[in-house]
Amino acid sequence: MSQTPEFPSLNGITDKLNRPVRDLRISVTDRCNFRCTYCMPAEIFGERYEFLPRPHILSFEEITRLARLFAAAGVTKLRITGGEPLVRANLPELISSLSTIDGIDDIALTTNGYLLAKNAQSLKDAGLSRLTISLDTLDEDIYTQMSGRSHGPANTLEGIKVANELGFSPIKINVVVQRGVNDHTLVDTARYLKSTGAIVRFIEYMDVGTKNGWELSQVVTSQEVIETIGNEFPLEALEPNYPGEVVSRYRYTDGDGEIGVISSVSKPFCGGCSRARLSTDGKLVTCLFASGGTDLKKLLRSGASDDEIAVLIGKVWAGRNDRYSELRSEDTEFKASSSDDKVEMYYIGG
Ligand code: GTP
Ligand code: 5AD
Ligand code: SF4
Ligand code: SF4
Repeated sequence: MSQTPEFPSLNGITDKLNRPVRDLRISVTDRCNFRCTYCMPAEIFGERYEFLPRPHILSFEEITRLARLFAAAGVTKLRITGGEPLVRANLPELISSLSTIDGIDDIALTTNGYLLAKNAQSLKDAGLSRLTISLDTLDEDIYTQMSGRSHGPANTLEGIKVANELGFSPIKINVVVQRGVNDHTLVDTARYLKSTGAIVRFIEYMDVGTKNGWELSQVVTSQEVIETIGNEFPLEALEPNYPGEVVSRYRYTDGDGEIGVISSVSKPFCGGCSRARLSTDGKLVTCLFASGGTDLKKLLRSGASDDEIAVLIGKVWAGRNDRYSELRSEDTEFKASSSDDKVEMYYIGG
């Protein structure tokens, strides 16, 4: 284990709403092998779309250095996201070096699962603790439509199976719910995964980014989801695993597993939000709905010391007052007035 240096400027830091920083979500690439309609619609992200040029993307050494500074500020959990993180070459090497950081006790990865079967073993060997896999539906045609690709969920299902056999536990499955698209397939998804030990989480479709044409009418509330699943398989609410948990948990009353709902539209959870995001090109983003971030890469590459970078991180976090989802739900006109200037999900991860 390497030593985490002490940074007095960071220790125990909280933001303007008294929220500590506990969770760092790291986007390792802005590219993806899928074109989900709610994230990177194919008509916008076509052949000619220009992703970040290689020199703009943080190296593994740079990511690890920053993660170490965030750990000194109180971060205990890292989540590797993208785009699709498994399209980044040699990803297990990054996981290995992140797993040596003092204070980090959990490293999770969010993936669409397409490349998971062949990568799961090396991720496990590298020290990855947990996996979250996106699977919006089991229906071949709807999967094709939502993922913007010409294949169904077979590869992702194989990835889930392999990960399960390797002992990743608990595997979490993310289902983004869109009215009129996959909402009639939720019970099938729940049934398929019910006694596998995997935890399915149904996510309210969010107005993240500017490219998905989000409308409130496309959101199926978590309450509706719970009623739909509960009618088929009775459910009861569970306590959160930890304060500020994003997901509301339910268990099947027959004892055969757990599901969750993520209600960022109908019941925002900004009050406990201790998540910082590091974009592919090294910007510190303090909210999923922010319009930009603070460039840490510039400082990193200008020869700044750890102390100097730590001071900037501390300053940004101390000045943070984001609570976008709460503001959106307090003000129904809010979306219209704030829709054209938000970072994209694939750039900062989910
Ligand atoms: P663990 O507790 O670490 O397992 O993760 P989690 O339950 O928080 O789940 P995860 O980090 O995978 O987040 C699931 C989904 O919730 C994301 O893909 C987003 O859609 C949504 N989400 C996560 N964090 C935030 C957030 O800070 N704000 C909003 N509005 N949505 C979020
Ligand atoms: N609304 C809700 N969830 C989304 N995700 C991506 N875009 C959206 C959106 N607009 C989720 C994906 C994946 C994670 C990276 O973020 O399903 O699980
Ligand atoms: Fe890719 Fe994930 Fe975005 Fe889908 S949601 S396009 S899999 S980054
Ligand atoms: Fe955190 Fe912003 Fe999401 Fe609120 S909207 S929970 S502040 S990331």
